[in-house]
Amino acid sequence: MIPESFIQELLHRVDVVDLIDGYVPLKKAGANFAACCPFHNEKSPSFTVSPSKQFYHCFGCGAHGTAIGFLMEYSGLGFIDAIKELSAKVGLQMPEDDVRRPHDGPKISALTDLMARAAKYYYEQLKLSEKAINYLKGRGVSGEIAQKFGIGYAPDGWQNLGAAFEDYTIAELQVAGLVIKNEQGRLYDRFRDRVMFPIMNQKGEVIAFGGRVMGEGEPKYLNSPETPLFEKGREVFGLPQARAALRDKDTAIVVEGYMDVVALAQHGVGNAVATLGTATTATHVQKLLRQVDRIVYCFDGDNAGRKAAWRALENSLEALPEQKSIGFVFLPDTEDPDSFVRSQGTEAFERMIAQAMPLSEFLLRELASHCDMTSAEGRARLVAEAKPLLSRLQTPLLRLQLVKRLAEASGFSQPEVERLCDLRPIVRPAPARVPRQAPSLLRPLLRLLLQKPELAKGLPQDALPANSAEARAVRHLCATILAAGDPAPPYAALLERLRGNEDESILREAAAELMQQPFAEEDIDAEFDGAVKRLQEGENKRAFDLLQEKVSKLGVSGLSGEEKQQYLQALSARGKTG
Ligand code: UTP
Ligand code: MN
Repeated sequence: MIPESFIQELLHRVDVVDLIDGYVPLKKAGANFAACCPFHNEKSPSFTVSPSKQFYHCFGCGAHGTAIGFLMEYSGLGFIDAIKELSAKVGLQMPEDDVRRPHDGPKISALTDLMARAAKYYYEQLKLSEKAINYLKGRGVSGEIAQKFGIGYAPDGWQNLGAAFEDYTIAELQVAGLVIKNEQGRLYDRFRDRVMFPIMNQKGEVIAFGGRVMGEGEPKYLNSPETPLFEKGREVFGLPQARAALRDKDTAIVVEGYMDVVALAQHGVGNAVATLGTATTATHVQKLLRQVDRIVYCFDGDNAGRKAAWRALENSLEALPEQKSIGFVFLPDTEDPDSFVRSQGTEAFERMIAQAMPLSEFLLRELASHCDMTSAEGRARLVAEAKPLLSRLQTPLLRLQLVKRLAEASGFSQPEVERLCDLRPIVRPAPARVPRQAPSLLRPLLRLLLQKPELAKGLPQDALPANSAEARAVRHLCATILAAGDPAPPYAALLERLRGNEDESILREAAAELMQQPFAEEDIDAEFDGAVKRLQEGENKRAFDLLQEKVSKLGVSGLSGEEKQQYLQALSARGKTG
């Protein structure tokens, strides 16, 4: 657990505007700053950052959070890592015990340092190896591109890394997958006489390597094992290098090989990334679709390539949000993107990407290819095989499109296909912006508390109605503010305290409203008193109505002593106010 006080101190030191501006250039817009949202694709800016309240909110997609939340969303970091990174930025020392230690092993940061040192060493060794330079030249890789991808060379020999590290025997080198200990306890370099491709995370930190033999030898590519830094199913090769081109083209081209990415970049196609000798996972898809609206898989023209494409399709289905699209390109047999772009050129390659086969078409073609479409049984089988795939789709539009095409292909009617596939209406997640409800007295109260949290002390709890989501949110917010003690924490700190809580979404809504229309500082106390008074009057009236009802049924004698007193007091108060 990271102490609350540390999080508060951190949020106090970081300026969310500075932080976000480093990733997404912000423009001043009234009291706030604005930009096109980095979390969804848009043409006019609805992403807004509040310097006074230190949070961001997108009025388009509902993304909302603090500096910590921004780093988590933008860089795909976990909570602890985001805090770590922010702490480092502002020079705060994170409480020692709270740094993550996977399996009591070395710290992530120590491993990251080792990988950076190793990458630097390999990179320098490349300049000294004529053989490796010639190999890359022979494959059409320029010095500039080699540098962009940090390509290096691991020299032949067993303990070369001894030259890069003071102590070759430290366990961290083995945990990082750079050094291996054999059964006799002897240590040796994993990568020997190979061209080295560093695999980087989104932040551009080296987390693994792929090393290619020059000439014959097995395996062709030797990869780092999975380590605390590196989980294959989450990472792709070439992501930090592709960042600008991904933004530009709004499309990610997913290929199979390291050299495919490098060769495409060499030919001016910068928006390609490669999965790392594994199938494309739903995590890959989610990660990429956060940055672009379209993924095009471009796999080899052979059987293995088709299989890989099918796996990619299966794993894309549930990760595919509305308005994002997926296409497939199949290269001529025996070609891969590297050989294709070198022989046919950039334009031909780009044209193929633009004309990629839509997901729905690929899905139907593949299914139809192993059903006998000339027989009724075969057509029924087509529908049966589509069933598990359709049920994974979360997007009603694409599903409808597929159902239509399945109906055409199978000869069943559309409702029949739906029934055969047992399709129920898709339960859509609540829209980011909760529809407006009847104006509530509690809404302004929430906004007031968020703008000036110390007001919580002056809120009589009995003024709140018992059973509404907003009342619960107000109560929860007050309790959080009061529990934090003096001085009351600002909004961003409260938001972090309420992370993952069921009342979080109502509070985000209220904060977003506040962003557009804050209360004037000089009015805020009077506004608060007014809101409390109106609430209390409402509550008093409700209590009086209940008593009145009892009296009309049972007479005054039906009331308890306390109730009688309340009733009489209320009557006389009413008499006074007329
Ligand atoms: P390919 O065998 O298609 O090679 O492997 P390639 O990418 O065309 O490589 P070049 O052009 O001969 O240099 C595709 C990808 O599968 C993984 C690598 O990520 C490779 O880029 N792979 C392949 C391995 O991890 N290990 C291997 O031994 C082979
Ligand atoms: Mn190749």
